[in-house]
Amino acid sequence: MLIPVILSGGSGTRLWPLSRELYPKQLLPLVGKGTMLQETLARVAGVEGLSAPVVVCNESHRFLVAEQVLEAGIKPQAIVLEPVGRNTAPAVAVAAMVAVSEAPNGAKTPESDPLLLILPADHVIRDVKAFRAALDIGRKAAAEGKLVTFGVVPNKPETGYGYIKRVNGAGPAYAIDRFVEKPDLATAQSYVASQEYFWNSGMFLFRASTVLNELRELSPKIYEACAQAVTAAKRDLDFTRLPTKEFGACPSDSFDYAVMEKTKHGVVVPLDAGWSDVGSWSALHEAIPADEEGNVTLGDVLTADSNGNYLHSTSRLVAAVGLKDHVVVETKDAVLVAPKSRVQDVKELVNQLKKQG
Ligand code: GDD
Ligand code: MG
Repeated sequence: MLIPVILSGGSGTRLWPLSRELYPKQLLPLVGKGTMLQETLARVAGVEGLSAPVVVCNESHRFLVAEQVLEAGIKPQAIVLEPVGRNTAPAVAVAAMVAVSEAPNGAKTPESDPLLLILPADHVIRDVKAFRAALDIGRKAAAEGKLVTFGVVPNKPETGYGYIKRVNGAGPAYAIDRFVEKPDLATAQSYVASQEYFWNSGMFLFRASTVLNELRELSPKIYEACAQAVTAAKRDLDFTRLPTKEFGACPSDSFDYAVMEKTKHGVVVPLDAGWSDVGSWSALHEAIPADEEGNVTLGDVLTADSNGNYLHSTSRLVAAVGLKDHVVVETKDAVLVAPKSRVQDVKELVNQLKKQG
């Protein structure tokens, strides 16, 4: 039995002005037909032994999430609502606890200790077949008590990702030497050249009992706070509402720091499947096939003598002349214009906007 756990708690600030606090990127149809959340669910549809997903999101997104899951034709096991964001370690912890407490009880069967596949809701994977092949390898290792992470074969020294160094040895699942979260450019360049490092995809696979044991041992404060929050949670239709007091008291930490960097049971399974976390407009530009001029145009867009641009209109005609390597994103109330090389700084803009209220 395999339960997909969908992490849908991010705010996607670097994709402003399309991605907003109340409408973050994972709930938008940025690549493909469905929203990113729906594409994530579709990516595992039909996988052997698949069970209903557990989705973890902020409570302010509950109706959009519920509607999109329903629209995808899926009845979730639970939609767990976080009153506040506490990063990914608590999100994984509560999902594992909810999944286990709702699986059939009794004697130890595969059902009472399901495999959990942790999937961030905002990734793009072009080659679903290759992704499924990596999943099969990961399942075997996870069934044997490993904590599996999927390591993307890097094609550039991206500084927005974590890196995983594997231990040289026999595959297809490699022991992990170490994790390095978001290195500087020079370090990232040396990692890519060495061919010993993968990007950390942020997708994980393990048995529920394995991850709960590791959380209890390696991050006991998170484990305890999450156990209390799940015990005090209220079920309301498909929603499992975590209480503000108990969940708010949980320390904030990423699953990478809280568990993966400390565990002795981690392995990395290589993934070469056209993966991207589309964390910025330039990443989105790369994830969508461009026209002959290297432009990606969405909506009502007109170009002349322009190339290498991402041009996105939602309500008005956007026209560009002689424009090169830029991002233009038009929405009803805001327009972003930026050179592609500066799109990481959109985050700063959004911080300024927040301060202005
Ligand atoms: N439910 C829930 N609650 N989900 C969350 C929360 C939370 O509090 N915080 C983050 N998430 C979700 C985000 O929506 C995203 O899909 C995923 O968890 C990862 O969180 P990010 O905040 O986007 O992390 P990151 O991009 O800085 O880094 C992580 O992901 C990279 C790959 O995308 C790390 O794991 C890196 O090492 C990795 O390379
Ligand atoms: Mg991210």
